[in-house]
Amino acid sequence: GVEYSLRPRYLSEYIGQKVVKENLKVYIEAAKLRKESLDHVLLYGPPGLGKTTLSTIIANELGVNIRTTSGPAIERPGDLAAILTNLQHGDVLFIDEIHRLNRSVEEVLYPAMEDYALDIIIGKGPSARSVRLDLPPFTLIGATTRAGLLSAPLRDRFGVVSRLEYYTMDELAFIVSRSADILEVGINQQASEEIALRSRGTPRIANRLLKRVRDFAQVKGNGVITEEITQEALQQIQVDRLGLDQIDHKLLLAIIQRFRGGPVGLDTIAATIGEESHTIEDVYEPYLLQIGFLQRSPRGRIATPSAYQHFNLEVPS
Ligand code: ADE
Repeated sequence: GVEYSLRPRYLSEYIGQKVVKENLKVYIEAAKLRKESLDHVLLYGPPGLGKTTLSTIIANELGVNIRTTSGPAIERPGDLAAILTNLQHGDVLFIDEIHRLNRSVEEVLYPAMEDYALDIIIGKGPSARSVRLDLPPFTLIGATTRAGLLSAPLRDRFGVVSRLEYYTMDELAFIVSRSADILEVGINQQASEEIALRSRGTPRIANRLLKRVRDFAQVKGNGVITEEITQEALQQIQVDRLGLDQIDHKLLLAIIQRFRGGPVGLDTIAATIGEESHTIEDVYEPYLLQIGFLQRSPRGRIATPSAYQHFNLEVPS
């Protein structure tokens, strides 16, 4: 579908994450020169910044296959063993949400990462013994929104650890223009910048907003995305000047109006607004922390004066 084709396929097409990109380029070239598999890579950072996209790009640049799965999808050690024994020399295994692997599966991963080996227990009780199976050299790419949740032994087995950062407005505007080209819709620079401004530093959100604005341009305008139609569309879909949506608003207003600005615990906020604690922590909070609307304290979350000002509310003294 279109969603897929908006994703860049090679490093040269990938906008932003300059340092991560430059370093990966070196590691990939070195691995190719030595005809070795690339060292295991851990990508972490908030959702929507391109962890999956980068993994696909790494496989493309290496000229190998990518096998994609996720932490929760690998339920038992046997599931992982089946995946590992089906890899070809040099392939990439991408495990999204790798912090959600269970312990017994993780233990299969250690020798696989370190020695390209699979330790299989044969038999039960006193006659049980361990047999070591060789695996092809491969590259594990793990992605997580929270590197802090990874066990130390797992984290230590990644040779490359890269943190993805929120994108700058210029980078996002560039991504919006590029995506508009692919979607074959006209857009001017101001409109690209307006969408960028409201995308919370996140390409996935920028591309989603672009598609919604395109709908309005097609139905209410002449098909071209102007600044005017962009403003109108974004107001209609309730994305505010800073890109905050209805859930961001609910979250901040709950803290301000029901808990006097905090501190209030995450689970209490979650119950109050009817969202999952995990979703709040992984998806909504990081950007609100980044723009300084929210603070974490040992006793819970606090709304900052900037948050009050955003809603034209008086800052308590
Ligand atoms: N589309 C989504 N993310 C992108 C990126 N980082 N560069 C180019 N196009 C993108």
